[in-house]
Amino acid sequence: MVQKKIFLLFVAVSTLSFLLHHGIRLNITEPFYLNCPSLPLHPGPDLNLKHTNVAFLKTHKTASSTMQNLLFRFAERNNLTVALPVQSCGHQFGYPQYFTSHFVHPHTLPPNIITNHMRFNKAELQRLMPADTVYITILREPSTMFESSFTYYHHYCPAFQRVANGSLETFLAEPWRYYQPNEKNSMYAHNTLAFDLGLDKDHSGDDEQYVQASLAGVENVFSLVMIAEYFDESLVVLRHLLSWDLNDILYFKLNMRNENVKTNLTPGLVSAIRSWNSLDARLYDYFNASLWRQISTHGQTCVAREVQALRQAQEKLMKSCFNETNPPLRSASQIKNNNLRPWQPSSKVDIMGYELPANVTQNVSSKAQELCLKLIMPEVQYTKLLLQSQSLRYR
Ligand SMILES: *[C@@H]1O[C@H](CO)[C@@H](O)[C@H](O)[C@H]1NC(C)=O
Ligand SMILES: *[C@@H]1O[C@H](CO)[C@@H](O)[C@H](O)[C@H]1NC(C)=O
Ligand SMILES: *[C@@H]1O[C@H](CO)[C@@H](O)[C@H](O)[C@H]1NC(C)=O
Ligand SMILES: *[C@@H]1O[C@H](CO)[C@@H](O)[C@H](O)[C@H]1NC(C)=O
Ligand SMILES: *[C@@H]1O[C@H](CO)[C@@H](O)[C@H](O)[C@H]1NC(C)=O
Ligand SMILES: *[C@@H]1O[C@H](CO)[C@@H](O)[C@H](O)[C@H]1NC(C)=O
Ligand SMILES: *[C@@H]1O[C@H](CO)[C@@H](O)[C@H](O)[C@H]1NC(C)=O
Repeated sequence: MVQKKIFLLFVAVSTLSFLLHHGIRLNITEPFYLNCPSLPLHPGPDLNLKHTNVAFLKTHKTASSTMQNLLFRFAERNNLTVALPVQSCGHQFGYPQYFTSHFVHPHTLPPNIITNHMRFNKAELQRLMPADTVYITILREPSTMFESSFTYYHHYCPAFQRVANGSLETFLAEPWRYYQPNEKNSMYAHNTLAFDLGLDKDHSGDDEQYVQASLAGVENVFSLVMIAEYFDESLVVLRHLLSWDLNDILYFKLNMRNENVKTNLTPGLVSAIRSWNSLDARLYDYFNASLWRQISTHGQTCVAREVQALRQAQEKLMKSCFNETNPPLRSASQIKNNNLRPWQPSSKVDIMGYELPANVTQNVSSKAQELCLKLIMPEVQYTKLLLQSQSLRYR
């Protein structure tokens, strides 16, 4: 009897000890789901457990500004170095030329993170970035992406300017009548995503060998290709890939157009856009499928739960910054604060930005207020600010 009691006591103590040693990282008060990966949701893992070397290829018109803002904030919070363009390049690394390290400001070396616009150049980027850098990019469904580009770059891109009545249908009926492959800004009019990835925008999408080699090339370098239509799901996959916590992926949507300047696309237009941008369409379909495979390896319900947790945390943060779930959205031209006015390609394109309601934020600590400001700061201003602070640190 006594032996049995001692044995049971031994089993109980061993079990407790096992739990303490193996379960100690679980915050028992956190929602904990059976079979879901148990990364902590809240700050817990210290920085050296997180991946801090990240190259994000910022593609055009794909919610990539929101991603860039998130990476800038992560870098600032953790004193990391972000490679930034030399001043003469503005806020881009010599785009549309291929990226080279000559475009990188010397005060921003050696980098942990790189995210400003560039045309991808694997060899040059790998020479610049640490060996354990995680490569990420983002794609968006080509028809909505192209419609966005057509409006946004209308006065920038000669192929679009030539369309007399400015109609997308007219352009798509005979794209080769308006489009010239080698002229300035032609990349906004044909397979922009493929171009940003360093591929040949004018290569025929029917060349199966080229398409397969391109898909394989992108897949080999990029650990994650996010998909704009599933932005939150992509962020959850990213968080697991980088061992980041929930706070690291909080964001506000940036660089949006006013809803009433968006064109509704008929099924005919969707297929015309996809066939004109067939390389982009192949890339998108392939990497959308690949994202959903990655989501299922985490378990769709686990990802959905984290998406929900992300949205709740976002709402809480919005409330603390703006006392509303949505900060006041304004046309860029109406935004008085220079730090918050987004860049507009022309006065005819209505880009929306946010304004901090001064009286609401008076009460929060200056540190919290700074976070609120950074969350909605457009890329041009944020890039300038980071360059200043990193240059100070460099000296
Ligand atoms: C556990 O989570 C709660 C709620 O988020 C938090 O307040 C607490 O500090 C966490 N405890 C530990 C040990 O991380
Ligand atoms: C970042 O640097 C500042 C100033 O040098 C320091 O106060 C802060 O603790 C650092 N933060 C981290 C996360 O290392
Ligand atoms: C633009 O012009 C084309 C022919 O030149 C015509 O078919 C089309 O209906 C016009 N579209 C608009 C929106 O005016
Ligand atoms: C992306 O892939 C998923 C899963 O295969 C599919 O259900 C969805 O329709 C795709 N989305 C788009 C926009 O093509
Ligand atoms: C915040 O919002 C609530 C409800 O909408 C309102 O009652 C309150 O006065 C607001 N506070 C501030 C500081 O704006
Ligand atoms: C903040 O200022 C705006 C405009 O001046 C005003 O309408 C609003 O009531 C003010 N809110 C608070 C909480 O004082
Ligand atoms: C400011 O903070 C104090 C204390 O936290 C609170 O009582 C007060 O309602 C807040 N005022 C506004 C305008 O948010």
